Amino acid sequence: MSIKKAIFPVAGLGTRFLPATKVIPKEMLPIVDKPIIQYATEEAINAGVDELIFVISESKKSILHHYGDAEVLNQELIEKQKHDLLEIVSDIIPAGIKLKYVEQHKALGLGHAVLCAREQVGKEPFAVILPDDMIDDDEHGCLSQMVKIFNEHNSSIIAVENVNPSDTDKYGIVSTEYLTEHVSRMLDIVEKPDPELAPSTLAVVGRYILTPEIFDLLENLGKGAGGEIQLTDAIKKLLNHQSVHTYQFHGRRYDCGSKLGYIKAKLNYALKHPEVKAGLLEHLQSGEVKNN
Ligand code: UTP
Repeated sequence: MSIKKAIFPVAGLGTRFLPATKVIPKEMLPIVDKPIIQYATEEAINAGVDELIFVISESKKSILHHYGDAEVLNQELIEKQKHDLLEIVSDIIPAGIKLKYVEQHKALGLGHAVLCAREQVGKEPFAVILPDDMIDDDEHGCLSQMVKIFNEHNSSIIAVENVNPSDTDKYGIVSTEYLTEHVSRMLDIVEKPDPELAPSTLAVVGRYILTPEIFDLLENLGKGAGGEIQLTDAIKKLLNHQSVHTYQFHGRRYDCGSKLGYIKAKLNYALKHPEVKAGLLEHLQSGEVKNN
C-alpha cells in the first residue's frame, strides 16, 4: 500500500528563532534558495505522496502563499522571457499534487496539530513530516526509505536516531527489540526523559508513518510533557493495540528549529549547490573565516 497523504504541522510558535520568526514562519527561512518547507514537501512528493495537508496558524499563511498562484510574478517573468525562473516557480508544486490546509487555532502541541488534520486524512495510513527536521540522504529522501519499511511491516513506522545521552530531555525516547540493523520493534516511548531516566538514546525525529487508529487515541489524550498534547503519548497508547516499528534512517539530520542546526543545514546544502559551492569553499578556506 502506498502512502498518499502527508501532514505538515507548522503551527508551532518558533520561539527559538525570535525575532526572525516574529513575522516570517521559521519554515519559510531559506536554505540557499528554497524555504525549509519546500524541502519537506519535495521529500513527500518523492515518496509518492500526492496530498499535502498543512496544519497552520493564522500567522503562518505565507506558507500557503508560497504554494499558491503568483499570477503577477508569472506574467512579468513571461514578459521578460525569464523562462528558467518561471519553471523554478512553477516547479514548487508539480501538477496533480493536492494541497489542503487546516488551522490549529492555539499551539496546544504536536499531537493536537496532527489531530486537527483527522478529517483530511480519513481512515488510511499517512505520513507526518516536521519540516524543521531536515534530512539529507543524497537519494530519494527519508520518507521514501520509510515507505519501503511500511510496506514490509504494515505498521506505524517512526524515524529514530541516536542522540547524545545528555540530550534525551529534548526528544521522545524509545526502547526497542532488535529486528534488523535499521528496524526494531518499539516496546516503549517516553517524552523528553531526563538522561538518568531515559530507556535508551534512540530519539524520535520528525518523520512518522502512522496508522489511522492514532486519531482516536489522540482525541482522548490529556496534556502531557510541557502541558502539551503530545504525539508521543498517543504512540505509547497505540502500542497496546498494534505493533509499531522504529527505523534508523540513512542520511544526516539537521535540527533547523535551532540556530546552530539551521546554520549547519545551510552550509551543507550550499556546499552542494552548483551556483554557490565553489565560492563558499573558497571563502571558507581563505582564512577570512576566523574564530573571533
Ligand atoms: P517544536 O517543538 O519545534 O516547536 O515543534 P515550535 O513551536 O515550532 O518551535 P520553538 O520550540 O518555539 O522554537 C515541532 C513541530 O510541531 C509543530 C511545529 O510547527 C513544528 O513543526 N507544532 C508544534 C504545531 O504545529 N503545533 C503545536 O501546537 C506545536
